[in-house]
Amino acid sequence: MWRNSSTGFGRISRLLHWTMAALILALLVLGTALGWIKPNLSTLWLYGLHKTMGLTALSLAVIRLIWHRISPPPPPLGPAAHWQNRAARATHLTLYALMLAIPLSGWIASSATGLDLVIFGQITLPPIAPTSEALENAGFAVHGILTKLLMALLLAHITGGILRGLKGDATLRRITKGLESPSRL
Ligand code: HEM
Ligand code: HEM
Repeated sequence: MWRNSSTGFGRISRLLHWTMAALILALLVLGTALGWIKPNLSTLWLYGLHKTMGLTALSLAVIRLIWHRISPPPPPLGPAAHWQNRAARATHLTLYALMLAIPLSGWIASSATGLDLVIFGQITLPPIAPTSEALENAGFAVHGILTKLLMALLLAHITGGILRGLKGDATLRRITKGLESPSRL
């Protein structure tokens, strides 16, 4: 089953979820390392790698949102008004907003440095902001703050998912194996 059904996630959504989960967790680790090291000729490739992975994540987020329109995700298991389902929905919406805002703020800040933005070692992307030191500083500050918010939300998201899995709820199973057995909350 490639598409989502009314009770479970199909292959495309599961593939997108786990590819992006791995990519974003790796980006958070690599980005944090970039905050510690000094940019110089020997570390430049790490910046290039971070930008390549970050813009790949942005493209996948757009594809994922388009896929949502084509094949809507299943509603939560159990009553939608239950606090856990309300919290999960608010978290997912914010995660989507951050999956767009974080790479965009990185792209804006990188454009504001005035340096070429090269991904995959050869594709030069157009700047999306004018060269400006103030914008560069503001852009990277926003990028940093939003990534902290993402880390906090992911902690809640992952803990919530695992706890529901431990309770025997099918929420975790339907995003891993894609089983469709209806279950209680
Ligand atoms: C090991 C880590 C992770 C676990 C255990 C996990 C678990 C889950 C579970 C159980 C769901 C299904 C919720 C439902 O049935 O409605 C889900 C959905 C979702 N997850 Fe994760 N997740 C993980 C990592 C991530 C990461 C890193 C992100 C990236 C920001 C992410 C973003 C999302 C989003 C946006 C949804 C909503 C699904 C949709 O509507 O397309 N997850 N996750
Ligand atoms: C989902 C995508 C992304 C994630 C999760 C992410 C994550 C991070 C994190 C955690 C940091 C460290 C922030 C700090 O501690 O201040 C960082 C720094 C950085 N990011 Fe990203 N990033 C993403 C996309 C991008 C993109 C698309 C670009 C540029 C095109 C970019 C460029 C940078 C640069 C240049 C730094 C280093 C800033 C500095 O030296 O202060 N990032 N990123």
